[in-house]
Amino acid sequence: MATTIRDSRGSGKTARRDAWWLQPLLTATVLTAFIIYATFRTFENDNFLPELSRNASALWESGRVGHLLSPFYSPLFLVDWQVMGYHVSPAILILPFPLSFRLTCYYYRKAYYRSFFMAPPACAVQGTTKKTYRGEQVFPFVIQNLHRFAFYAAFIFIFILAYDVVLSMKYVDGWGISLGTFVLLLNVLLLAGYTLGCHSLRHLVGGKLNCYSCSLAAKTRHGLWKKVTFLNERHALYAWVSLFGVALADLYVRFVCAGVITDWVLVKF
Ligand code: FES
Repeated sequence: MATTIRDSRGSGKTARRDAWWLQPLLTATVLTAFIIYATFRTFENDNFLPELSRNASALWESGRVGHLLSPFYSPLFLVDWQVMGYHVSPAILILPFPLSFRLTCYYYRKAYYRSFFMAPPACAVQGTTKKTYRGEQVFPFVIQNLHRFAFYAAFIFIFILAYDVVLSMKYVDGWGISLGTFVLLLNVLLLAGYTLGCHSLRHLVGGKLNCYSCSLAAKTRHGLWKKVTFLNERHALYAWVSLFGVALADLYVRFVCAGVITDWVLVKF
């Protein structure tokens, strides 16, 4: 039993001999790197729409009349707010929605409670202890219980980002698919895999039901519940790959904006 190898002398103490610290260390490193990058991009207020960038002439030559938009800046707000001479980034309006969804996610809670708060850092490893600790019953962690509301917003964002994929295919002479279209599509699929595997959605479609076979509606909900469960069982995986997917999509758009790479049009129809 885990309790038999616990050593209570202090935080991080354990009788475990394996590299238990590796996972929380990796988690902390990757999350910190993403937070730094996302914060930089949110406030950069530039290089999010190639059609507006220094490299725009090359894109107009390609004939695209839709846009290739960074997910950090979607939906697109083409506004120029100034506060005390400072140009406010529209991404600030968008960030709270995906951020609150990830921060309150059941999987991410486990990840950052372990990696950043060491509460505890791993199974059978002594964590930080506070006599007054009351978990998610009191402020600020009681806010975590609003996760289901963050889910509603995240669900809408799947459609917003999917619409961006469609817009990336609009050309003056019809439709086309560029490498950027694939990158944006990959991001949407990974985000959908993450969002649709949410514990809140699983409860929403399959919860508060005593019989799964008593009516057509109940059977339908059972079918949906099984699909959500399939994703839910892989929720940690999707949590990570979708994080990389967002960063990759944004980085791709940024490089296109800066003229570092060209968004090759692969096919027109
Ligand atoms: S539990 Fe992870 S997104 Fe809802």
